Amino acid sequence: MDLLSIDSLSDEQIAALLDAADQFAAGASASDRHEGRIVFNLFYENSTRTLMSFAAAAARLGATPLTLPVEQSSVKKGETLADTALTLNAMRPDALVLRHGANGSVAAVAELMDCPVLNAGDGTNEHPTQALLDALTLRQHFGRVEGLTVAICGDIRHSRVARSNRKLLERLGATVRLAGPPSLLPDELPGRGEIGAAIGGADAVMMLRVQRERLHGELGDGPGEYLARYGLTAERLARAAPHAVVLHPGPLNRGVEIADEVADHPRSLILRQVANGVAMRMAVLDLLLGA
Ligand code: CP
Repeated sequence: MDLLSIDSLSDEQIAALLDAADQFAAGASASDRHEGRIVFNLFYENSTRTLMSFAAAAARLGATPLTLPVEQSSVKKGETLADTALTLNAMRPDALVLRHGANGSVAAVAELMDCPVLNAGDGTNEHPTQALLDALTLRQHFGRVEGLTVAICGDIRHSRVARSNRKLLERLGATVRLAGPPSLLPDELPGRGEIGAAIGGADAVMMLRVQRERLHGELGDGPGEYLARYGLTAERLARAAPHAVVLHPGPLNRGVEIADEVADHPRSLILRQVANGVAMRMAVLDLLLGA
């Protein structure tokens, strides 16, 4: 089994992953569960949270995580993604965690591999483990996901996090509102809107990073302008429900899509999301590595 998309998972598997991750987050021990197994990390795009939490998750399950430093690898000599995948496959890993900038690239690599492949983010397409850890974070805080209203705001157009979260949160019974600057909203995603309206009365506000590396300067706004027009300030957060929590997948552009006082707010769950990243990736690796 591969985890390429939220669509890769049945409702039963999603429920089991949330329950298992809850137990791992509470400290359930699994340190010898996958002893002797090897998990390869192959990241063509930068990462702190996803890479390190997959490595920590593998180690906490007793497996050995091995990370190819792509910048120092034969990728830099021109080796293709397919040849890199076939080369790694010949070393017989027990799982491959892959992040790549091209939509669909992880699914294409999965066709070449004999082991389970986990999507750690493919272009603007999907980031399924991020959505799973976000759902876990909401469920821990509210005791449920069903019935919540979640506003996902910002650079929706480039956001694999928004795509995976929308699929997962709606499957779990939440109402998802998408909002952002007009130039950062894709046509194919319905339900988009103005940020203040989307935040109004919401139980949770998930701000998205402005993905400067994919924007090529096209936003063109001056310093502070994005925050004033589209960012999550304390004034905008006040439009949400009084109990509303703040999420952000990270990394943060402080002072751009989120104000410091909101990022560090008592109702910010941003570091809880990071902690849950290890627990959820333990649950996912445990499922895919099997008995
Ligand atoms: N949320 C997320 O994917 O962060 P990284 O890019 O640091 O992995």
